[in-house]
Amino acid sequence: MINKAIEISEGVYYVGVKDWNRRLFDSLIPLPQGTTYNAYIVKGGEKTALVDTVNPGFEKEFEEKINSITRVEEIDYIIMNHAEPDHAGAIPYILKKNKKAKLITTEKGSKMASIFYNVPNKRIKVVKDGESVTLGNKTLRFIEAPFLHWPETMFTYLFEDKILFPCDFFGSHTAFGFYDIEEIIPFAKRYFGEIMMPFRNMGRKALNKIEELEIKIIAPSHGPIYRNPEKIISFYKKWTNGETEEKVIVLYVSMWGSTEKMIKTLVDVLLAEKIDVCLYNLVTSDIGDIAKDLVDSRALVLGTPTVFGGMHPLAMYGAYLIKALKPPIKYFAILSSYGWGGGAIKQVLDILGSSKIELIDKVEINGPPTQKDYEKIIQVGKKLVEKIRG
Ligand code: FEO
Repeated sequence: MINKAIEISEGVYYVGVKDWNRRLFDSLIPLPQGTTYNAYIVKGGEKTALVDTVNPGFEKEFEEKINSITRVEEIDYIIMNHAEPDHAGAIPYILKKNKKAKLITTEKGSKMASIFYNVPNKRIKVVKDGESVTLGNKTLRFIEAPFLHWPETMFTYLFEDKILFPCDFFGSHTAFGFYDIEEIIPFAKRYFGEIMMPFRNMGRKALNKIEELEIKIIAPSHGPIYRNPEKIISFYKKWTNGETEEKVIVLYVSMWGSTEKMIKTLVDVLLAEKIDVCLYNLVTSDIGDIAKDLVDSRALVLGTPTVFGGMHPLAMYGAYLIKALKPPIKYFAILSSYGWGGGAIKQVLDILGSSKIELIDKVEINGPPTQKDYEKIIQVGKKLVEKIRG
């Protein structure tokens, strides 16, 4: 196997790896196209920096790529933009081979480097927001961008080449492609929904901070590199602002078909009014797709039967995801059916009641829906349309 670095700008090299076969991240997020752990070497006239590292298990491939342009032992700085192991996990391997490099990170990052990777303090250089380090004819500027998505996160900006290294921010989980690929936005959106959406206020602040920078290349730590970064920046502005569409995300689970009939009736009302609907049966859905559509849906419909005196566990999972991911959804409705005793709706409200999402209406029925029930559901649909359009 020939593992070689790829030059992305003069003296700037991609030394990351593709994880084609990984299918799950955080034991939670599906990766239909795998992912990448991007890392970069910046060679200045006097010094050399490594920007981020790779997931444990890829150290050899990573080392060979670095060695194709410099020697691991000769790296002067290791920039740790983020301490999560998919980017920082190979730091101990590099530091063991290289006795002189300093690890550059934020104050919070220095604590994490010590806790997660046993990096001694004498090998860490803490940088403050806006501080720079020169490599000779290349200058790295560090920009604190906390909670994207851990507290220690920062961006690195290579001034002369106008390259932003934002680590997870602007990232996407796909091993396909290398530079801006046509079909990247759905993957970037999915990634935003899964990872960045709960921190979108911090994302907005970070975007404001980099607004003045001239950026020719965005080199994130997952997915393709952007040589035309305007498009992804404009999407990130929309997503971090919580701008929603006339769109409803419907999450449901049905045991004997009653809840499904209720859901379909309501969906028909929405579609007839030309409201965009994303329908997910929680039994078979990929939660990454759900996260993607949570990014810009204006309303939510949750359908669940009562089982064991409460929500179906899959519906509970869906509701909990919504609470955790904090999407910009404004309105929601609940449809529920039960055999001999309700309880699901109360539990939905226990989970989502404290969120900022306004409950528009709820319908709970006993057994299969009757004509009267369908009429009620049609009214719920009309109320939702009014709110969405309002
Ligand atoms: Fe890709 Fe937060 O690590």
